[in-house]
Amino acid sequence: MTLPVPERVPRHIAIIMDGNGRWAKARGLPRAEGHRQGTENLRRIIRACVEFGVEILTIYAFSTENWRRPPLEVRLLMTILETVIDRELRELNENGVQIRHIGRLDQIAPALQKKIQYACDFTKNNHRLILNVAFNYGGRDEIVQAVKRIVREGIPVEQINEDLLNRYMYTGDLPDPDLIIRTSGELRISNFLIWQGAYAEYYVTPTYWPDFNKDELHKALEEYNHRKRRFGKTDEQLSEDEFK
Ligand code: IPE
Ligand code: IPE
Ligand code: MG
Repeated sequence: MTLPVPERVPRHIAIIMDGNGRWAKARGLPRAEGHRQGTENLRRIIRACVEFGVEILTIYAFSTENWRRPPLEVRLLMTILETVIDRELRELNENGVQIRHIGRLDQIAPALQKKIQYACDFTKNNHRLILNVAFNYGGRDEIVQAVKRIVREGIPVEQINEDLLNRYMYTGDLPDPDLIIRTSGELRISNFLIWQGAYAEYYVTPTYWPDFNKDELHKALEEYNHRKRRFGKTDEQLSEDEFK
C-alpha cells in the first residue's frame, strides 16, 4: 500500500527506538530476539524516511546509560551494530544514505570504532538522507564534551553564545530535530538530544519499536502536521508571518 506523503514533512526526525525487550517478553522470546527484530524494523523505517523525503534521521541505538545493562546484553548490542554495518552498508550507500555517528567513540572497542569510522567515511558523499546513529550517546555528555573543547581552544567569554555552543554539538552543522518520536510509551527523554530538542515536537506511541512500521510513522507525520509550532510567538503573529 502506498501512503500519501504528508504535506509538511519534518526535515529532521529523531527516534528513541524503545521497547525491544518488552516486545520479546510479550511473546515469550529472549530479549535478543527483540533487538534482532528491532534492527529489521530500522531498515524499513530508513526506507520509509527516504520515501517520505525526510532529510535527516537520528536514531538512538545505545545510550551512555546502557552500559549499566548486564554485560551479555551490552556485548550483544555492540555485536548488532557490527553486524548491521557489515550487512547493510552497501545497500544504505546505494540508497544515498550518509551515515554519521554521534556520541563517544573512545569508549567503544577499537575494532568497532574502526568499522563505524569506515561506514561514515564510505558514505560521506551521499546526500539523500543523513542518518545520525546515536551510539554511546548521552545529551549531558555531549554538552560536557562541547564545553571542554571550547575551553581547550581558548574561546573568549564574549564569543560564547547559543550559536557557538550549537556548533560544538555533534549535530553542529544540522538543523534541530523537528519531531522526536519515542516508541513503547515511556514519557521521558532518557538523555537524548537535550540541547537540540529544545523546540522539537514530541510524539509518543505505545507501540513497541519492532512493530513501529511505515503506517505508524505515517500516523506520527500526520499528527505532526496538526501541531502548531509557535516558537514563543502568538497565533496572531503566526498568521501574519504566513502572508509575509
Ligand atoms: C530499546 O529497547 C533498545 C535499546 C535501549 C538498546 P529496550 O532494550 O530498552 O527494550 P525495553 O525497554 O526493555 O522493552
Ligand atoms: C533509551 O532507551 C536508549 C535507547 C533507545 C538506545 P532505554 O530503554 O535505555 O531508556 P530508559 O532507561 O528506560 O529511560
Ligand atoms: Mg527501554
